[in-house]
Amino acid sequence: MADKTHTRALFLCLLICISTTSGGKPRSRRPCKELVFYFHDVLYLGYNYKNATAVIVGSPNWGNKTAMAKPFNFGDLVVFDDPITLDNNLHSPPVGRAQGMYLYDQWSTYGAWLGFSFLFNSTDYVGTLNFAGADPLMNKTRDISVIGGTGDFFMARGVATVSTDAFEGDVYFRLRVDIRLYECW
Ligand SMILES: *[C@@H]1O[C@H](CO)[C@@H](O)[C@H](O)[C@H]1NC(C)=O
Ligand SMILES: *[C@@H]1O[C@H](CO)[C@@H](O)[C@H](O)[C@H]1NC(C)=O
Ligand SMILES: *[C@@H]1O[C@H](CO)[C@@H](O)[C@H](O)[C@H]1NC(C)=O
Ligand SMILES: *[C@@H]1O[C@H](CO)[C@@H](O)[C@H](O)[C@H]1NC(C)=O
Repeated sequence: MADKTHTRALFLCLLICISTTSGGKPRSRRPCKELVFYFHDVLYLGYNYKNATAVIVGSPNWGNKTAMAKPFNFGDLVVFDDPITLDNNLHSPPVGRAQGMYLYDQWSTYGAWLGFSFLFNSTDYVGTLNFAGADPLMNKTRDISVIGGTGDFFMARGVATVSTDAFEGDVYFRLRVDIRLYECW
């Protein structure tokens, strides 16, 4: 008799355990919206004022604002206002601007931290998406957080997979941004 109660208690416990673990995943893991954009960064290096979209605003004592610091650009802080395009052509009509900053914060290799917004003002989207996260540049793809949005992206959250689509020395790079939103309104 005591044995039976014991088994029953164990069974009940098991049931509770199973239901709580499977209930631990509150939301679906499928994105509610997927978007792909490119943005283009032309860094000011002393000679290209007219063409530049980004500028070094802070550098370590041994560096300056017209060249990346050595080693690994460490300590450089860059502010940018870059065009966003739907394809990988710098000269395509922009659908918005990527505005914010990146700063190099890794001594041992190329690594940055990104904090920026996409400002859309096109026929497709009006609003902003806000991004933040670590950008270990030597990784082919880097995941950063989409921490919020406004307008057409009201309350959006998700993950953006960033990859370097092209670069020319320090003067130009193009990032491909694969945005997957997991919260849409
Ligand atoms: C501006 O910079 C980009 C990237 O380096 C280059 O492709 C483009 O031809 C430049 N435009 C001018 C007007 O210099
Ligand atoms: C900035 O630093 C680079 C690399 O060390 C150097 O070539 C350049 O002359 C410096 N520019 C200025 C304005 O000091
Ligand atoms: C967005 O585009 C409209 C129409 O071109 C313009 O009137 C408005 O000033 C733009 N807003 C921003 C924030 O650029
Ligand atoms: C580095 O890349 C791999 C595969 O490309 C990816 O799974 C991983 O999340 C990336 N790491 C970071 C920190 O983004």
